[in-house]
This record gives sequence, C-alpha cells and structure tokens, in this order.
Amino acid sequence: MNTIGVLTSGGDSPGMNAAIRAVVRTACENGMTVYGINRGYQGLIDDDLCELNIRSVSDIIHRGGTMLRSARCPAFKEEAGMQKAIDTLKKYGIEGMVVIGGDGSFRGARDLSLRGVPCIGIPGTIDNDIVSSDYTIGYDTCLNTIMDMVDRLRDTVESHSRCIVVEVMGNKCGDLTLNSGIAVGATAIVIPEIKSDIEQHVIDRIRRTQKTDKKHFIIMVAEGIGGVEELAKKIQAECGVESRSIVLGHVQRGGSPSARDRVLASRMGYEAVQLLMKGIGNRVVVMKNDKIIDYDIIEALTMKKPVDDTLYNIAHEISI
Ligand code: ADP
Ligand code: F6P
Repeated sequence: MNTIGVLTSGGDSPGMNAAIRAVVRTACENGMTVYGINRGYQGLIDDDLCELNIRSVSDIIHRGGTMLRSARCPAFKEEAGMQKAIDTLKKYGIEGMVVIGGDGSFRGARDLSLRGVPCIGIPGTIDNDIVSSDYTIGYDTCLNTIMDMVDRLRDTVESHSRCIVVEVMGNKCGDLTLNSGIAVGATAIVIPEIKSDIEQHVIDRIRRTQKTDKKHFIIMVAEGIGGVEELAKKIQAECGVESRSIVLGHVQRGGSPSARDRVLASRMGYEAVQLLMKGIGNRVVVMKNDKIIDYDIIEALTMKKPVDDTLYNIAHEISI
C-alpha cells in the first residue's frame, strides 16, 4: 500500500491530534503518501483533503480537538454519498483509510472496507463506549476535566452547605459519571447501567449522610438519565438542603490531552498503519489489558459489555 488517508469523525475528543500525528509519521517514515480528510466522511464526499507530511503534524500532540475537524455526516450512509466518497478515494489513489471516531464512524469504516477500501478504526471518543476496547482516546482527559470542575463546585457547595446535582456527558454510557463520581467523592451516582428508582435512591443517600452530620452533597448524574434540574428541586423539597444543578456540557470535550491519552493515541495510530502496511483492513485497533490488539470491525460492533457493578458498589460503600 502506497497511499493512505486519515479522518476524524463524530464527536471530537482530546488525543485525536496525537493519533493523527502517529498515523502520519508512521506512514511517512515507511515511504507512504498520506492525505488528511477534513470534516470526517463529509470531506470525502466534498473532495476536501490535503496531503500531510511529517511537519504538517508538528505542534499538535498537546492540542485538544482535531486539526482535521470532525462532522456527523448522514449523507455518507446513502448510496450516492458513498459513491462520491469512493470517487474521491480513486482520484487521489488512496488505497486504505484510518478512521478515528466512535461506533458510528466504525460502521462507515466497515462499509468502506466491504467496498474494497481497507479501513482501520481507532476508538476516539470521551464516552468510553467502545465495548471492544478498555479505553478510548479522550476518556482519561475528560475524566480529569470533570474531576477538576467538580472539585471547584465542591468549594462553593461546602461554603454554602448546598447540594449540587451534576450532569456528565457519556451518551448512553455511565463510565465517565461513575469514575468521576468516585474521584470526587460523590454522595450518589446515577448511571443508565444500574436501574433504580432514581429520586428515591438519591434522597435515601442524602438522608443517610445527613444523619452523620454531613451538610453538603455532590450528586453525579449521567446524561443518559438527565433531569438534573427537577432532581435538584426534589432534593431541596425532600431533604431540606438548598440545591442547585449544572449541566457540564461541551467544556468536558476540550482541553489538552492527558499523558495517558497521548500515549494511547500514539500506540493506536502506529498500530493502525502497521496493519494497513500488511494490506489488512476492516479491523479496529483497541486496548485490552494494556496491550494494543485488533478485532474485526463487524465482530467489534456486536460485542456486549456485561454490567459490572463492582465499582458502583465501592462508591456506594465509601461515599457516606
Ligand atoms: P461516533 O462515531 O463518535 O459514534 P456518531 O455516531 O455521532 O459518532 O458519528 C458517526 C458518523 O459516522 C455519522 O455521522 C456518519 O457520518 C458516519 N457514518 C458513516 N457510516 C455510518 C453508518 N453506517 N452508520 C452510522 N454512522 C455512519
Ligand atoms: O460522543 C461524545 C458526546 O460528547 C456525547 O458525550 C454527547 O452525548 C454527544 O457527543 C454530544 O453531541 P453534540 O456535540 O452533537 O452536542
């Protein structure tokens, strides 16, 4: 394989730039030509791409977001869009692709691979919802950003003896909420994976700690659950503690990637190009038990993660 392309797709995540850098440098060092596709699959449809060399990816390893920009592109799921994308790939002689994104982006990579363009997926999303991989690029940075923001909230809720209900991103996955909840010492954590009567659960947790003379409370709620404003009102009414709510929002997705995300991205980017150099496609590069391995994309997309309540139970036990 002499010419490859790289794109970022779906929600951006810190560390995507480090992955692009690893892909470009590994490919260039091995004598390949690399094209960066702008705005995900949309750039393939619009013929919006440019050649990248080892210097094009200088000074990006520490930057959040993605230098290639990202998009959600419904047109790529249509036959006409797919055909335009394939025409663009042919025009530039692109023989293989690295797609950095989440599950949706991998479906696109699978479709392209089935059309004869070998693609390698790299999990890039803050949500940590790629079941085949222990960690996704951006998750660690996001977790630390949430922790930092909630530590600040703790200062003010403690000063005012209040309760704060915090909504955390993660799409349908509770990993960010659960792990940040443990890291900030939340009184209650609500995630989609653990079914409960949410209001009752949170109120019970607060009342229990009130008996031990606790005066301020942090409640972490996954966005897949939502309803933080109503929950704060209910807590105020039922527990007699002044309550506020906050949706942390897109600030969670930005910022300089952590060392862990930069290293993960570099390892995955390198491995993706190794596979393409062997002519292998339709694979997703993942981390399992600190090793970088790869799976068939179709197999990876059908994997299910069993609910593991170990961490949740730990949080329950020690947040009193
Ligand atoms: P993520 O890749 O982070 O899961 P999204 O699902 O929001 O994020 O974005 C996925 C994008 O992948 C879609 O907007 C679309 O551009 C692209 N895509 C391409 N093919 C498919 C497909 N068959 N199914 C879903 N998404 C696809
Ligand atoms: O997938 C990343 C993510 O930030 C999710 O956590 C969230 O549900 C979604 O993207 C938000 O999407 P948008 O940027 O389109 O508002």
